[in-house]
This record gives sequence, C-alpha cells and structure tokens, in this order.
Amino acid sequence: MFVVTGGGTGIGRAVASALHERGDRVLVTGRRAAPLAALSQEAGGGIEFLACDNSDPADARRLAESVTEPVDGLVLCAGGNPAIGRPEPESLADVAALLDETMASNVRSAALTVAALESRLADGASVVLFGSIAAEHGVGFYGPAKAAVASYAVGLAARLGTRGITVNCLAPGYVTDTEFFRGGMTREREEQLRGQTMTGRVGALSDVVACVLFLLSPQARHVTGQTIHLNGGAVTTR
Ligand SMILES: NC(=O)c1ccc[n+]([C@@H]2O[C@H](COP(=O)([O-])OP(=O)(O)OC[C@H]3O[C@@H](n4cnc5c(N)ncnc54)[C@H](OP(=O)(O)O)[C@@H]3O)[C@@H](O)[C@H]2O)c1
Repeated sequence: MFVVTGGGTGIGRAVASALHERGDRVLVTGRRAAPLAALSQEAGGGIEFLACDNSDPADARRLAESVTEPVDGLVLCAGGNPAIGRPEPESLADVAALLDETMASNVRSAALTVAALESRLADGASVVLFGSIAAEHGVGFYGPAKAAVASYAVGLAARLGTRGITVNCLAPGYVTDTEFFRGGMTREREEQLRGQTMTGRVGALSDVVACVLFLLSPQARHVTGQTIHLNGGAVTTR
C-alpha cells in the first residue's frame, strides 16, 4: 500500500488520485478531515484517510496503528510556509513561534512519520520527501526548513539503503493548483516565476505526479539519496 501525507489538497491529492486510479491501495493524511473525506468520496470510498497532524507524536502513532499492511511507497507532502498571508513577526517570541511552526510543519512531520512507519516499510520500498526551490533562495524560515528536509533525506537513504529502500527529496519550483499560497498568488508574481524558468512555463500537478510515480517505480531503484529539482530550469544543479 501507499501512504501520502498532506494528501487532501494540491500535490498530495494529485499523487493519491494517480495511485488510486492505477489500482493501488492508498491512505492519505491531513489535519482537516473535510478535504480528505471529499477526496475519498470522489474515489468512491477507494482512498482511505486519517485526519491527523503528522508533526504530533501521538498522531503519528495513530497513523502507524492504522497502517495494516507493508508500505511500498511513502510520499511525504505534508508541509508549507506558515508565514504566507501573515504579518511579519513583531516580538522575539513571535519569531521563535514562527520558526518552530515552520520546522514542525516540514521537518518534524516528515521525520516523525518516517519514525512511526519505518518498521512497516516493505523491503525495496520508496520514500519521497518534499523539498522546495526555496531551499536554494532562502525565503524566511521555509527555505531553511526545506534544506533540512533535503539533508535528512541523505542520511535516511544511507540507513534504509541496506533494505533496498530508496529515499529522495523532490524539490519543485512553483506548482499551480495547490493551496500552498492560500489564494495569494497574483498574476504578476506568476508571470515573474514563469520568467525565471528556461521553458517559459510553470509547474503543473501532472509534472510532479509523473516524477513521484517514477521515484516509486521499479525503474528508479538506483536513484537514492538525491535532491531532484523540478522547476523548468529556474535553478540548476551546476
Ligand atoms: N505548490 C508549490 O509551488 C510548491 C513548491 C515547492 C514545494 N512545495 C511543497 O509541496 C508539498 C505539498 O504542498 P502543496 O503545494 O500541494 O500545497 P497544499 O495544497 O497546501 O498541500 C499541503 C498539504 O499538507 C497538509 N499538511 C500541512 N501540515 C500538515 C501536518 N502537520 N500534518 C498533516 N498534514 C499537513 C495540508 O492539509 P491540512 O492543512 O489539512 O493539514 C495540505 O493538504 C509541501 O511540502 C510544499 O512545501 C510546494
């Protein structure tokens, strides 16, 4: 079976739908039950869901208890930038709270989910973590959090490699049709981001899904410990 965190919206939702459509058993998580229930209903009840906070140890344990068969693929989409749409932090306490929230959302959610499900991962399974182009640019605390995810993927890949499990960090640039920007993406900003690519296009959900499906596939068994950039050339590795 496949577990997709943050599967109620955006990239996670698209990945879960694609896995379901090809006949795989899928369980999705998210903090809000409503988007998860809507996805499950859309799939005729064929997508299982658990409303939980993947950055909370008790919830991660609940997730482990609800996973009843070996996990062939773990796709860790839960995350985001809590600073979007909020005023700048005023006090040092506000700065500390935003930093902690950003790290919890992106790093702790991934690491706790892995810790909870590690023993359930099938030998030869795949783990796909989500980084971001923001790790290259900075972007407040969100970029550093995604850089931490990318680094975490390296050590995890080394540790799980002995079981034939691959671990990679997929780092997209701007992807449309998600809740990431909470409705705050303007046409001007989108054009600016399009202009930063080599291809003159912005990322679609289908671009990300195709890459995730490859990383989950038998063809990708020699791809591990990598940060894979998916951004139309907006940032290159050389
Ligand atoms: N869209 C982009 O341009 C872009 C670019 C680079 C990287 N990314 C990364 O791609 C991943 C997917 O984001 P998206 O673009 O698809 O945005 P999205 O639509 O906002 O999806 C993020 C999902 O994660 C869930 N989530 C957040 N924190 C969680 C937690 N602690 N426990 C469980 N679920 C949690 C959210 O649901 P709840 O709020 O209900 O929990 C939401 O469904 C994220 O890691 C994001 O940082 C996105």
